[in-house]
Amino acid sequence: MTDLARPRYRSRRLRRTAALRSLVRETSVDTDRLVQPLFVREDPRSEATIPAMPGIRRWAVDEVASEAEELARLGIPAVILFGLPAEKDPLGQGAYDEAGVVQEAIRAVKAATPEMIVMADVCLCEYTDHGHCGVVRNGQVDNDASVALLAKISVSLARAGADVVGPSAMMDGQVAAIRDALDQQAFEDTAILAYAAKHASAFYGPFREAADSAPRFGDRRSYQKDPANLRESLREIALDLDEGADIVMVKPALAYLDVIRAARERFDAPLAAYAVSGEYSLIKAAAERGWIEERAVVEETLIAIRRAGADLILTYHAKDFARWRKERPS
Ligand code: PBG
Repeated sequence: MTDLARPRYRSRRLRRTAALRSLVRETSVDTDRLVQPLFVREDPRSEATIPAMPGIRRWAVDEVASEAEELARLGIPAVILFGLPAEKDPLGQGAYDEAGVVQEAIRAVKAATPEMIVMADVCLCEYTDHGHCGVVRNGQVDNDASVALLAKISVSLARAGADVVGPSAMMDGQVAAIRDALDQQAFEDTAILAYAAKHASAFYGPFREAADSAPRFGDRRSYQKDPANLRESLREIALDLDEGADIVMVKPALAYLDVIRAARERFDAPLAAYAVSGEYSLIKAAAERGWIEERAVVEETLIAIRRAGADLILTYHAKDFARWRKERPS
């Protein structure tokens, strides 16, 4: 027999059994890397189900604590909260109301599960009647006026007990303004998860239905970044780290694995990836039709995001993943 027919190196040797495969596996996903996003509605009579996101609910304030307890039992260490206020106005006042929906939800979750890391999204789009992520002046989103409000929101979320605030509005200077405002109010231990490389993405569609936050005119391309640019993402991350971000994030995840990889290589800071609503809904829809095997596809995508270099992942699949792991470890 020739040498070609008898390879000396056989990759298959270490693929032979599950034990050998896991011995040499380079990447893993564990529940302790996952953050579950939760929608909370102020009006208890409003709709709970989200047609575009099967399996995800809008929790009433008095339901959210027991959901957090269940997540804690499943080993999920963190949640990120998004609010649906009962009323909207041009300045998004519900976002920095001490008795606002997310502020109340934070208090409820912290009272029920003090060990749960509570993150809160910092943005105006769910709270403004026009649906933009900032203050609109003369048809434009005014950067600096918006930043002042984002700082105010962050302080009120920290006061309610948030461990981490996550500015997602993509206004310039928002991280620095939030850090300063938090420090001035003695919230120097409140961390900032910066949505640093947040792309103007069509994958946010289901979220905007869930959070009723679609812009009523125009789009978000004047503040969210162009999906075509990689170097610009790295610049945004560098700026946010300079401004005091503790964790930087790339969003969405699956279509931006190259951005995650480049960020991992360039920066030492903790790196998050947000597997957004559209990524979730694509998988759910195909799984419902029986076209893909849901658990396997979810695990493969989460591994891909970790392999690209993310430390932690915000994903709507977090609870399912944790449940599957409990039922059948792998
Ligand atoms: C708020 C915000 C959005 C998402 C997170 N924070 C929506 C948007 O920017 O339109 C999207 C998350 C998702 O799609 O899961 N600005």
